[in-house]
Amino acid sequence: MAILVLLVMSIFRAVVAAQISYNSSVVGEIREIANDLQTVQWMKMIRREIHRNPELAFQEFETSQLIRKELDELGIEYVWPVTGTGVVATIGTGSEPFVALRADMDALPIQEMVEWEHKSKVDGKMHACGHDVHVSMLLGAAKVLQQIRKQLQGTVVLIFQPAEEIGEGAKHMIREGVLDNVEAIFGMHAVLEYNTGVVAARPGELLAGCGSFEATIRGRGGPAANPHQCVDPILAASTAIISLQYIVSRETDPDDPKVVSVTIVDGGSTSFDLIPESAIISGTYRAYSKQSFYGLRRRIEELR
Ligand code: NI
Repeated sequence: MAILVLLVMSIFRAVVAAQISYNSSVVGEIREIANDLQTVQWMKMIRREIHRNPELAFQEFETSQLIRKELDELGIEYVWPVTGTGVVATIGTGSEPFVALRADMDALPIQEMVEWEHKSKVDGKMHACGHDVHVSMLLGAAKVLQQIRKQLQGTVVLIFQPAEEIGEGAKHMIREGVLDNVEAIFGMHAVLEYNTGVVAARPGELLAGCGSFEATIRGRGGPAANPHQCVDPILAASTAIISLQYIVSRETDPDDPKVVSVTIVDGGSTSFDLIPESAIISGTYRAYSKQSFYGLRRRIEELR
């Protein structure tokens, strides 16, 4: 729980820096509210409740309901539904500057194997990525901000975002205009690499952008005994997969890391004795800078 409090505080520092001329008494107040035992226990209770009831992308109905209930109790205004289950709350003057804090809400289709009191009650679903933690942290942030709202010289937008795990939620929320007036946005993720209580940040990109691709390779099917009369899409797909690997291993500057992973190969044939009509390959690609990301996408498209 210490890490939650520390992370909440780090977020607040950023908000304070952005919205109020640096004022040590406000920071002290934030620290006091965040470290208050009741706040800590309340956040822990929320995290455990969400952990017990994990919901997958765009199905975060009860998580969303819980968020709204807590916001109601805190007396914080919000808009809902945004992108289905999403909730967008605001605290402050209602005018600019608008600074956003964001937490994702969805769980993963993974079976929780650890036996403990607050284990997932839903078979095959688990908060394995820590988004239960993120929601409780953002509610913690909401609680603190609400208490210092009169000192805010602008508006903090709290974004509870659905469907992070399938890469859809943020895109839809942005299309719905959630970030239209927002000058700065802070996001974070719980990680295992650091000890409890450590808050880490760095300038520049921290996480890579991620895209996906799917290619259907059409050939001409026929008996496996007569390959010369067919156009084998499986062989073409194999060559394409090898070529995709060359983009990273032979064309990429090692100081500008990229990833291309082919994760699905579907030959479509239901018989070992038939060359299929077509094959599908799909996967993901990742890069840090915008330029590298779109450059990588262009090279993947060129391999068609
Ligand atoms: Ni995550």
